[in-house]
Amino acid sequence: MALSEFLTELDALAAQAKTAFDAARDAASLEAARVEFLGARSGRLKTVQKGLGQVDKTDKPAAGKRFNEVKQAIEAAFEAAEQRQTSATVASTVAVCSDPTVPGVRMRLGRLHPITQTIEELKEIMGRLGFSVAEGPEVEDSWHNFEALNIPPEHPARDPLENFYLAPGLLLRSQTSTVQIRVMEKTKPPVRIISCGRVYRPDTADATHYPMFHQIEGLLIDRGVTMADLKSMLRLFARSAFADDVHIRFRPSFFPFTEPSVEVDMSWQGGWMEMGGAGMVDPNVLRAVGYDPEEYTGFAFGLGIERICARRHGITDIRELFKNDVRFLHQF
Ligand code: PHE
Repeated sequence: MALSEFLTELDALAAQAKTAFDAARDAASLEAARVEFLGARSGRLKTVQKGLGQVDKTDKPAAGKRFNEVKQAIEAAFEAAEQRQTSATVASTVAVCSDPTVPGVRMRLGRLHPITQTIEELKEIMGRLGFSVAEGPEVEDSWHNFEALNIPPEHPARDPLENFYLAPGLLLRSQTSTVQIRVMEKTKPPVRIISCGRVYRPDTADATHYPMFHQIEGLLIDRGVTMADLKSMLRLFARSAFADDVHIRFRPSFFPFTEPSVEVDMSWQGGWMEMGGAGMVDPNVLRAVGYDPEEYTGFAFGLGIERICARRHGITDIRELFKNDVRFLHQF
């Protein structure tokens, strides 16, 4: 084959390829054009390349050089067409997204969980009464959860069926009273703290129980503290948390770490409700943390936060609080 014939064929192919690429209106037709001209097996460029073998020997170098140039030009034309198509797609997407006449999507604003809201308010109330906030770990050792709180090894409250043990001597705390010990171990009296947080007990979930719940613990240690201080403080607390017409009632009870001990009930808008336990800190507890019970006395209380929260909002089943259903949580 003469060189001129080969070159004419090459040039015609280049022109046709460019026209086909430019005419392709979408990704599918561009791909079809690519296969037609650049296809590795039977593309038209491949066919022309075979003609290279028939070119006269002396013309081969020139023909080969020209072939490579045309090949690169066709590839470049394809890439340019592909690039144009991508930009066109992006541009039309942006045009839709920025259409100022499309109705907006309202942002859903989150809010604090009702339990968190309650905790924040209780901290605020107790802060005004002079109590600062202390924290303790949820994974506790038996010293802080039991021994130091005057709960001896044989006590039924330590039974594996009543607690979530993680290892011997290590458990998910069953009460926030652990924080009393942690604070007293670190500080000298006077002490005036609250601690809010999760506690764990293997209770079957029902309308008023859940295996995880929250308590607010209070501890006040000073000289000459009496039960009257405890009661008046709890009344102030309940009035701030609910309303002025709240009543507080103490019923005799028993806790190993307080003596005397009471159950704290509250009545508001009819009906008494159990809030938790309280009492005067047992001398054994004071001794366990190195305080002199002859010099210092104090009171402690532990109240259930779910109950406070439920009572305030009229929630009748505390399980609702932990279902993570925003339709429910959104109301508070
Ligand atoms: N820790 C007790 C409980 O969980 C409550 C309590 C706290 C009682 C402080 C007395 C003093 O039931």
